[in-house]
Amino acid sequence: MEPVKPIYLDNAATSHPKPESVYLAVAAALRVGGSPGRGSHHLATTADRLIFETRELLAELFNGGHSEQFIFTANATAAINQALFGLLQSGDRVVTTMVEHNAVVRPLRELEKRGIEVVKVPVDSVTGIVNKSALQKACLHQTTRLLVVNHCSNVLGTIQPIEGLGRWCHEHDILFMVDGAQSAGHLPIDFQHLDVDLFTASGHKGLLGPQGTGFLYLKEGVELTPLIYGGTGTNSRSDLQPEHLPERLESGTLNLPGLAGLHAALQFLQHTGIEQVHSRETQLTAKILDGLQKIDRVKIYGSDNVMLRLGVISFNLEGYDPAEVAFILDQEEQIAVRVGLHCAPAAHRTIGTYPNGTIRVSPGYFTTETEIECFLRALQKVSARSS
Ligand code: ALA
Repeated sequence: MEPVKPIYLDNAATSHPKPESVYLAVAAALRVGGSPGRGSHHLATTADRLIFETRELLAELFNGGHSEQFIFTANATAAINQALFGLLQSGDRVVTTMVEHNAVVRPLRELEKRGIEVVKVPVDSVTGIVNKSALQKACLHQTTRLLVVNHCSNVLGTIQPIEGLGRWCHEHDILFMVDGAQSAGHLPIDFQHLDVDLFTASGHKGLLGPQGTGFLYLKEGVELTPLIYGGTGTNSRSDLQPEHLPERLESGTLNLPGLAGLHAALQFLQHTGIEQVHSRETQLTAKILDGLQKIDRVKIYGSDNVMLRLGVISFNLEGYDPAEVAFILDQEEQIAVRVGLHCAPAAHRTIGTYPNGTIRVSPGYFTTETEIECFLRALQKVSARSS
């Protein structure tokens, strides 16, 4: 049976479709009429309640303790910027990996100009996995303030072995930060267990909410200087930024429709169960990897062990520029994939695909087997054309 087109295989950029309840919640929130934390009329308090519940849902999903430790941001990039610029000072040293997204790379580059030392640990050039001992060794320096790693590579789908790093960092007086843009919502994550100090994520990828949403989680006791100062709807007599969270780091009116959508998405994930999402997406990933292996001239990047990766699969077709393949898939087959460097040039340098990059397919919870079969048939056609 032919699937309904277009076929969307770019969930690593943003999830699509969203649960139906997300669309309804966004529309309903736009009609509420109140602004969260701004005013005491019932419309504003309804909006406030929604925001509070969204925070609570996040705290529950990630076992993050008090919900005020979750700061809403416009996206994961804004959360990462708040974390890095709010924490690091001249003389500090940061350790990270060679497969970070530009959302981490660029703020760190800027911070280097401000006197912060940045150390990048290489990863395996095939799997993209970082060696834990190499990371720990790189951290052993008296000025190391922070270790920051992505949980899952947006190029290779590689899940980094972050288990135990939080505790190790604390034994060495180092803060531990995880960029969870590609893992949140896809993989069960427990902040207490991982002992993370800072965790950042988008709301619109694995968490299935609308674009314009993201969050920064801060372990209790971790202090950041705000990046943005202004109205919080609280303590308005003072011209000083409030000390307490989340207001300290959340100036300006929040994105109520976006967060209402995220609220509905989190309820959907809670009801479905992240284990179930993970198992479904692993099944789809295995099907894609298996199908790709059977197509002539395809070179797949990353680990061949499906348990060491999430649903982000990069490949190339020998004899083709990746952009050409993506163009054919889009124009002739209505199949959406993402091609190029995926805002992570260092990861592509590591696997030898710089500067043209790779073709990346990323299924989501709602991707069907039929869609994957259709994609594989289409790619097979392109491959046959080049022979
Ligand atoms: N970082 C997102 C991606 O990999 C946008 O596509």
